[in-house]
Amino acid sequence: MDQPIHPSAIVDAGAVLGAGTRVWHFAHVCGGARIGAHCSLGQNVFVGNDVRIGNGVKVQNNVSIYDAVTLEDEVFCGPSMVFTNVYNPRAAVVKKHEYRRTLVRRGASIGANATVVCGVTIGEYAFVAAGAVVNRDVPDFALVAGVPARRIGWISRYGERLALPLDGDGEARCPHTGETYVLRGGACAPLAPGGAMAPGDNDQAADDAAQPAHAPEHERQRAAHPAQG
Ligand SMILES: CC(C)(COP(=O)(O)OP(=O)(O)OC[C@H]1O[C@@H](n2cnc3c(N)ncnc32)[C@H](O)[C@@H]1OP(=O)(O)O)[C@@H](O)C(=O)NCCC(=O)NCCS
Repeated sequence: MDQPIHPSAIVDAGAVLGAGTRVWHFAHVCGGARIGAHCSLGQNVFVGNDVRIGNGVKVQNNVSIYDAVTLEDEVFCGPSMVFTNVYNPRAAVVKKHEYRRTLVRRGASIGANATVVCGVTIGEYAFVAAGAVVNRDVPDFALVAGVPARRIGWISRYGERLALPLDGDGEARCPHTGETYVLRGGACAPLAPGGAMAPGDNDQAADDAAQPAHAPEHERQRAAHPAQG
């Protein structure tokens, strides 16, 4: 299909979609949404007004991304996974002023049918197994599964399990790429060339100093390259 927005989809006036972003059948993007380039929004996806989505994000069918959710670059949302934004909803009580923000950091994947209880941060390249219920923060490179989601291991940028202990210290290579990962004090990160702990792509002190906290990557890039979409 050459047309990036399917005729059955509704993209409200004001919504910003970056170059090459595709919107599939019956999706609805609200006018306040800010979506980066080269994303894919699957069939029946909903994107609220107060939603920020980075570049290269893949959202599979039947996912609703409600207000107060931010997805950084290259996040993967599996089919029918669920975000939330009110922690303790009641039909008869308006709680729009009580939304809890959810942040999914760069490269993280969320499996099919998982539920993300609002107010958490899912770390960079973390992996939420299918059907998990996430109700607390997930560290970078952690693999979590179950209800409630518990850390069952560590996972590489490529998406391969790492032979690391759950806690403590260790070192392992990604079986696919050979990239070395270090677990130190319960935090996992790729090893930078030269032996130091890699920034893990999360040591963005220089960027963050000039950006609002939790600015998604595409906003950082826009700030750095204002001419871009
Ligand atoms: C997590 C996942 C990647 C498997 O990773 P893995 O390293 O191969 O894990 P294993 O299959 O070896 O399982 C390790 C343990 O976790 C458990 N486990 C695996 N996936 C699980 C899940 N989704 N929920 C609960 N437990 C799970 C296994 O039962 C096993 O437990 P055990 O040690 O008690 O036997 C996979 O199960 C998964 O959930 N993938 C997401 C698929 C998806 O949603 N894709 C969307 C695009 S189609």
